[in-house]
Amino acid sequence: MPTTATKTSAKASKGASTKSAAGRATASKKATAPDAIDLLITDHREVKALFKEYDKLVKAEADSGEKQAIALQICVMLTAHATAEEELFYPAARDVLGEDEDLVDEADVEHASAKELIAQIEAGTPDDPLYDAKVKVLGEYIDHHVKEEEGEMFPKVRKSDLDLDSLGEEIAARKAELLGQTDEPH
Ligand SMILES: [Fe+2]
Ligand SMILES: [Fe+2]
Repeated sequence: MPTTATKTSAKASKGASTKSAAGRATASKKATAPDAIDLLITDHREVKALFKEYDKLVKAEADSGEKQAIALQICVMLTAHATAEEELFYPAARDVLGEDEDLVDEADVEHASAKELIAQIEAGTPDDPLYDAKVKVLGEYIDHHVKEEEGEMFPKVRKSDLDLDSLGEEIAARKAELLGQTDEPH
């Protein structure tokens, strides 16, 4: 698992020691992908919207097929997101977080719990008595996990010299590959 994005920005410009909002805005104009953290936060928003949609379907007593389609979309999105974080973002975060590395340990454990529920949801159907509860609890897990990532881990990583633009490109490419949205050979 190459993490070529690590620590390449320091030598790029001596003026880039703090990654200001202005600096990021400039970078994003030329970059094709958002930076790593922006990309992960966008995923968080998208999956939260899907959980809300599922909840609405439950309240509306929608049919199983509709509910299952949303639930499976949640599972696919979360699996691609979590895999990209585990393969690319978390190892890079570990390199720069120092004594705050335990944030990544906790995130890994939370991913493992979420994956167990994802597997149960993927194996089941909305006609199972606990299906709605599983989707709801997964949503609550993810809410908690996202709060920790966005509230603690991401701000600390943002302050480091990690090259988030390159890492963002790697994450976007890996996610596209996992979601079958790329025809590139690797
Ligand atoms: Fe995340
Ligand atoms: Fe995560």
